[in-house]
Amino acid sequence: MKNSDKTPLLKASGLRVSYGIGGGIFSRAKKTFNAVDGVSFEINRGEIVGLVGESGSGKTTTGRAIIRLAPLSEGEIFYGGEKISGLSDADFMPYRKKIQMIFQDPFNSLNPRMSVLQIISEPLGIHFKKMGRAERRERVAQLLETVGLPPDCMARYPHEFSGGQRQRIGIARALAVEPEFVICDEPVSALDVSVQAQIVNLLEGLREKLGIAMLFIAHDIAVVEYLCDRIMVMTRGKIVETGDAEDVCLRPRHPYTKELIASVPKF
Ligand SMILES: Nc1ncnc2c1ncn2[C@@H]1O[C@H](COP(=O)(O)OP(=O)(O)OP(=O)(O)O)[C@@H](O)[C@H]1O
Ligand SMILES: [Mg+2]
Repeated sequence: MKNSDKTPLLKASGLRVSYGIGGGIFSRAKKTFNAVDGVSFEINRGEIVGLVGESGSGKTTTGRAIIRLAPLSEGEIFYGGEKISGLSDADFMPYRKKIQMIFQDPFNSLNPRMSVLQIISEPLGIHFKKMGRAERRERVAQLLETVGLPPDCMARYPHEFSGGQRQRIGIARALAVEPEFVICDEPVSALDVSVQAQIVNLLEGLREKLGIAMLFIAHDIAVVEYLCDRIMVMTRGKIVETGDAEDVCLRPRHPYTKELIASVPKF
């Protein structure tokens, strides 16, 4: 059954990320705090799964733990049935191509000294070493078209773009290496409501066109209900409810989920 369609694309089992707190320079009593506290979930190929919860609940840390940007103190991660937690950096390299992340803050996640061409072609240089300059340029132009930006913006720098445009650049960079799974960390939270819908539609189109699976992190359960197949609700480092997106929104079971839904402004 290995690698068949029934094997989840990503399986996280008992993830824990602990950070040291307090202690100070005069105290040895260092306490630990579990930002992610025993989190387990599965994501299938082509599926979009939402991860919602209040600020500080551990959503970003969960996403970062998958791509090794946060240290896992316990738990295991499997990708297509293969255990990827505990691999050496060299053995993990292929997964750095398959799994990409779009970051929460479009204003700080792009290097201000790099042009759009350099930003988007950087991952190509790492994962497609044989790709020549002209071919790379061509690929960047294609990616810009995919995310709805004109090809002539290649020579420009991040400060010349609006938040929504920057997020499109971040998405193009994530797509450059043809990932199978993208962790979208609040890709629309920093954007105006009108631009949010455009980016959500773009992501939805990418799933349809390219079959990319996503972990879509958000504060706002309304955005997640629209885009996601399933929802996981997180609070204080734990997933407290998970289910079909519509079910969770219409018939929330956990009191925390009910609170989250009640806090969505009604227009
Ligand atoms: N590198 C770190 N060192 C210490 N504590 C950290 C670190 N990164 C995150 N934390 C703490 O872990 C908790 C979870 O943070 P995280 O960024 O995952 O939350 P979040 O759910 O993404 O919140 P937001 O919705 O505000 O983005 C927070 O209390 C945060 O302060
Ligand atoms: Mg976050």
